[in-house]
Amino acid sequence: MEGLTTTKSPFIEKAQQSGERFIHQPYELYSEENHQAWANLYSRMQSKWQKYANPKFLEGVSKLNLDPNRVPKIDEINTFLSPLTGFAAKPVSGYIPAFTFFDCLRNRDFPTTITVRDISKLDYLPEPDMFHDVAGHVPMHTDKAFADTLVRFGEFALSAALVIQEIKDKEVQIQRAKSVIKALARFFWFTVEFGLIRSGKELRAYGSGLLSSYGELTHCIESPEVQRYPIQLEWTVNQYFEIDHYQPLLFIVDSFDHLFSLVNELEVWLKDGRLNNVSPGEPFVSEDDIQSFLTAKL
Ligand SMILES: [Fe+2]
Repeated sequence: MEGLTTTKSPFIEKAQQSGERFIHQPYELYSEENHQAWANLYSRMQSKWQKYANPKFLEGVSKLNLDPNRVPKIDEINTFLSPLTGFAAKPVSGYIPAFTFFDCLRNRDFPTTITVRDISKLDYLPEPDMFHDVAGHVPMHTDKAFADTLVRFGEFALSAALVIQEIKDKEVQIQRAKSVIKALARFFWFTVEFGLIRSGKELRAYGSGLLSSYGELTHCIESPEVQRYPIQLEWTVNQYFEIDHYQPLLFIVDSFDHLFSLVNELEVWLKDGRLNNVSPGEPFVSEDDIQSFLTAKL
């Protein structure tokens, strides 16, 4: 059995080499070890989710009927998900250029990895895997306000591509594209990937990077080492982040309507030129990401 293990899957390698970004889920290729890894990941998160996940996530998990014992079938997830918010998980072979990724969100498709991390290293994640995407992200997509916010991210990217493509001077165009993509990636990181939300008097996680991490989900709420602040747009778009350790700085939203309004504001800032020159530093914006905005068909 060849398996669909993250960074070790011939099926994925082949798809990547032939430039196939959107693929199907070849379910028969999952090895027993992949299913076991999923079951282990899933079962150890149960008590943590009850304690630290936001209520909409818990509702989402039950609405999706995720199988605790076997790797879920994407098509089956979509039969539960799509009637709720119109979202669907869409299998991908790996990295998707920034504009394409956000344009998928605008169309209520969520690019979803289909490989499962190595069973011997459940806490080590060289790149996003299916547990991160399906157990961390997708339950949130059952909530209407959250789903609408993801669509707003997609609409923001479309507006950004328009603004960028109108710039005549090539050098300025590339510099602006880099800055706007950096601002967007940072804002997405501190919200959809690593966001905290108020829930009564307590804090809960809604970011998928937190919800899919056994260690960080406790750490993000309990640890005195983490700085937690009410979200500020000007801070998030100028704040660099590193991906290889627990986040020392997290931002709190009041509700998903609040988050939605912040993406609206981000678009106002884009049009006012306030994202034209954000502070340098992580994340790195690749040539493919820039080109995806410059060549987007509008
Ligand atoms: Fe993610």
